[in-house]
Amino acid sequence: MNIGIIGSGNVGRTLGELWAKAGHQVMFSFSRHPQRLQTLAKQIGSNATSGTPAEAANFADVVLFAPNFWLVQEAIAQTGSLAGKIVIDTTNPYRWGENGGIVRMVSEAVSGAETIQKLMPRARLVKAYSSFQPKTLQQSIERPLEQRLAVAIASDDEAAKAIVAQLVKDGGGRPFDLGALQNARLMEIPGVFSSSDTLTLDAAFKQRQQVLGY
Ligand SMILES: NC(=O)c1ccc[n+]([C@@H]2O[C@H](COP(=O)([O-])OP(=O)(O)OC[C@H]3O[C@@H](n4cnc5c(N)ncnc54)[C@H](OP(=O)(O)O)[C@@H]3O)[C@@H](O)[C@H]2O)c1
Repeated sequence: MNIGIIGSGNVGRTLGELWAKAGHQVMFSFSRHPQRLQTLAKQIGSNATSGTPAEAANFADVVLFAPNFWLVQEAIAQTGSLAGKIVIDTTNPYRWGENGGIVRMVSEAVSGAETIQKLMPRARLVKAYSSFQPKTLQQSIERPLEQRLAVAIASDDEAAKAIVAQLVKDGGGRPFDLGALQNARLMEIPGVFSSSDTLTLDAAFKQRQQVLGY
């Protein structure tokens, strides 16, 4: 599968490398230093390239959308249309405050994912990967299947969710379904699944039963 990565920091870089190792083609984009992304792609090997956000979207069967939340509009402006594309939103809707804490950038009543869906209304949005540090995935893929990290997925598009579930497996995680996109708030800070660095699938199912009743 061709995966275009928009936002190639901790999250984008880690997932891009894992997916390239699993045999997917990845294109890194969205940086103030395009040379850094060229070097990154070269280090990973023949399954990785770099380009502009528009090139990454054009190349992609699936887009990994991983900019900082305060750069979401700029990233979308540089990308252009994402109509019809499966887009995995990894963002948490926060910026850094002056005292070093985090400041929420959308109202408590709405998730970051729903806010992003409004900014790319025809994208097939899937929320995932916002609830743990990316390095935990690098550790997860080294472990036996039953000990691997549980990765929540929420979307209103069931077919898109199935494709992302396979990508989660390819990247060393174990997908579990959190239902519709409005449930994305459960995996964004401060949701009950927002700090899931050690979450196994058994624990995820128990917690989902308590929160969603299934
Ligand atoms: N890190 C985590 O533990 C974690 C976990 C789950 C979800 N998330 C979410 O996933 C998203 C990505 O997080 P991240 O940790 O990967 O972020 P990050 O490491 O800060 O990466 C963001 C990238 O954006 C690029 N960028 C492009 N234009 C920029 C500009 N004008 N100003 C600043 N940076 C610019 C930077 O690349 P250059 O420096 O090359 O310009 C940077 O590498 C965020 O929304 C975050 O909330 C993070």
